[in-house]
Amino acid sequence: PRPILIDTDPGLDDAIALLLTFASPELDLRGILTVAGNVPVNLTTRNALQICELAGKTEIPVYAGCPRPLLRHLETAESVHGDNGLADVPLPAPTIQAQKQHAVDFLIDTVMATPGITLCLLGPMTNLAVALIKEPRIAANIGSVVAMAGSFFAGGNSAPALEFNMQVDPHAAHVVMTAGLDVTLAPLDLTHSVLTTDEQLARVAKLPGRIGKAATAWLSFYGAHDRKKYGTPGGPLHDPCVIAYVLWPELFTGKRVAVDIDLKSDLVPGMTVMDWWGTTGKAPNALVLHQADVRGFYDRLFERIGALAAA
Ligand code: BDR
Ligand code: CA
Repeated sequence: PRPILIDTDPGLDDAIALLLTFASPELDLRGILTVAGNVPVNLTTRNALQICELAGKTEIPVYAGCPRPLLRHLETAESVHGDNGLADVPLPAPTIQAQKQHAVDFLIDTVMATPGITLCLLGPMTNLAVALIKEPRIAANIGSVVAMAGSFFAGGNSAPALEFNMQVDPHAAHVVMTAGLDVTLAPLDLTHSVLTTDEQLARVAKLPGRIGKAATAWLSFYGAHDRKKYGTPGGPLHDPCVIAYVLWPELFTGKRVAVDIDLKSDLVPGMTVMDWWGTTGKAPNALVLHQADVRGFYDRLFERIGALAAA
């Protein structure tokens, strides 16, 4: 199996991404790193522990990471994910605890010991940026980074032209994007086509057991927000696209382009400037995914999570 780390701020779509990972024997999940994003880091950590426990994956170590972005004040997204970050669905208090080691140190140790490892980033990029600053030698050992981040043609979801993970910590994203890593981005241009419509929600509602019940509550809450606020037919499964790409790259289409983060603008600090048409002549630093086989994505997602839920 392919060794991976997941860095995440659960978060409803993060939760689905974790379930997909747990359900996928091709992936060797070495640990879950949490970060402040959708809700503060004490809650994202608690949520990660509860999701592990819900799925019976109590052996997966969870490491709490950075409590705030590098320079900006933390902005959170309770209106999208609920006050607790998981649709305010009460889950049993976790019986497992986060590890004592800080997520940044665990990341460094794991990458140094596991050349070629894949890093899946589902939240603001703070932990990886701090790790790169603390131990630059990790850059040579990281096999690939696949991140839910940014927006090009799709506009913004948390501010005009700003995707939430980029808005929260644009400076961390700059550190990551200029480190010479093999980066793949799943921006809003891609994820806004992967909507949990009524048809998909009906499939979620048929998933069995505690996992089925939780996933139904999560995705109903998540979709209700987007239907009301944006008038779209369902909530976008942003973060599961990262895991799905690692598992099934054939479901996605992308283009290698040069991506810069605008850190200076007063209007859009954190905007991803993607040189789609190669106007600058700059060497590409990321594969930007922009299309998915949406039906294939949902079929495989529900097959996997259905099997996990039934186990
Ligand atoms: C991203 O922001 C968060 O709210 C989601 O979990 C996802 O990672 C989408 O912009
Ligand atoms: Ca997320």
